[in-house]
Amino acid sequence: MTDLSILLHPDVRLKKVSSQVTNIDETIKKLCLDMIETMYKYSGVGLAAPQVGVLKRVVVMDCSELDEKNPKILINPEIIWSSEEKFVFEEGCLSIPEIREKITRPAEVKVKFTNIDGSLYEDHFKDLWAICIQHEIDHLNGKLFIDYLGPIKRTFITKKMKKYKKEIINKY
Ligand code: NI
Repeated sequence: MTDLSILLHPDVRLKKVSSQVTNIDETIKKLCLDMIETMYKYSGVGLAAPQVGVLKRVVVMDCSELDEKNPKILINPEIIWSSEEKFVFEEGCLSIPEIREKITRPAEVKVKFTNIDGSLYEDHFKDLWAICIQHEIDHLNGKLFIDYLGPIKRTFITKKMKKYKKEIINKY
């Protein structure tokens, strides 16, 4: 498996709408497995393909307890129902390291998706799983969690990230 590198905000590819997967071929299957490996390597609970520079509607996530592994692969995920009830969670993102902000989202969602074998599924997500899948589907639509914040906060974070990226480049 290949360890993929994660794009950091700001990056124009993180703002693009990803395209539907029409054929789950070997390239897509390998992408899914590499994304799972990359997510675990960086201790993330979710990863969307555009974060590794692939503009396809593929998401992997694992919000299980620390000592368990239960990775999920969702291809072309689509929210078909959201609860009225909301949940506030301090979100983070592998593309915006070291930043965490409280974001309000529906507490539960129903999601339609295709799995790696090409079968169509529907799943009901709650708790961290529900927050995570909404965050990841946002990535597929070119939206980041900081886009829910006010413009001042968002600009501040983006400036901080630009500085952070420059420091990384200078280091290597
Ligand atoms: Ni993210």
